[in-house]
Amino acid sequence: MDIDFSEKVYLVTGGASGIGAAVVHYLAEHNGCAVIADINDQDGEALVAQYPQQLRYVKADVTQLAQLEAACEAAEKIFGGLDGAVNSAGIGSLGTVADMPTEEWHKVISVDLHGVFNACRAAIPLLRRRDGGTIVNIASLSGMRADYGFAAYNAAKAGVINLTRTLALDHAQENIRATAVCPGYIATPLTAAAGSVDAIHDNWLERIPLARPGTAEEVAQLIVFLLSPASSYITGTEIVIDGGLGSSNNQPNIPSIFAAM
Ligand SMILES: NC(=O)c1ccc[n+]([C@@H]2O[C@H](COP(=O)([O-])OP(=O)(O)OC[C@H]3O[C@@H](n4cnc5c(N)ncnc54)[C@H](O)[C@@H]3O)[C@@H](O)[C@H]2O)c1
Repeated sequence: MDIDFSEKVYLVTGGASGIGAAVVHYLAEHNGCAVIADINDQDGEALVAQYPQQLRYVKADVTQLAQLEAACEAAEKIFGGLDGAVNSAGIGSLGTVADMPTEEWHKVISVDLHGVFNACRAAIPLLRRRDGGTIVNIASLSGMRADYGFAAYNAAKAGVINLTRTLALDHAQENIRATAVCPGYIATPLTAAAGSVDAIHDNWLERIPLARPGTAEEVAQLIVFLLSPASSYITGTEIVIDGGLGSSNNQPNIPSIFAAM
């Protein structure tokens, strides 16, 4: 898929790594510009070095509204405005409601949910100045159903999905579209530790009908479609990209059990 992003400018939170970095790559390869808002200076600057005319890195912690406002200002000053935001910054965290430290709960909600609120709040005034724009929030399959032991992450991602619907309702008249993307198991630095445990990886593959993890580039293809006019009638919804992982009821595979008898 080739979409031309000439004269388009995007804020990409978490754009230094994984899914966000794949979006930044695609935009730069297709004539677009992006401001990478991240706390990963090394990877952010390395990406900019590949496309110095089209990219800027602004160190911005998504929990801090003022830092995201500064990233949006940089987009306006350097590239002349902002046409959309991809909110991909996120962290994972294991912990149950009963046992996780309260500070950990606050940290995950701050980055994964409040960070999306902050990025949208910082971006919307600039989108208004362009008479519209597109927001793509990276939620998760874990925001649609729960994963064992991920209380804060599951709650934050569910919040991102409903926040996205709210954004779509409240800003449709301003020509701002908002969608949430819900990936399953994607091979990125975020999943590298869990994915390197054979028992976890193999269990994942058994449950994924396509029997492999997705790639950041595959998720980026969906995101750039949602940024572009090709998706002009899509707003206020969540789109799953998971190789079929979420399609099962988790019932036993009765035909295969019968076949093995
Ligand atoms: N990889 C998967 O399987 C998967 C599945 C579902 C959802 N997601 C979501 O996709 C998004 C991207 O994840 P990824 O897999 O590319 O992970 P990643 O770790 O490769 O990238 C996440 C980026 O977010 C940045 N970040 C973290 N905290 C930040 C903060 N406070 N301020 C600014 N930047 C911050 C990191 O520095 C990193 O560059 C996340 O929101 C994640 O929850 C990933």
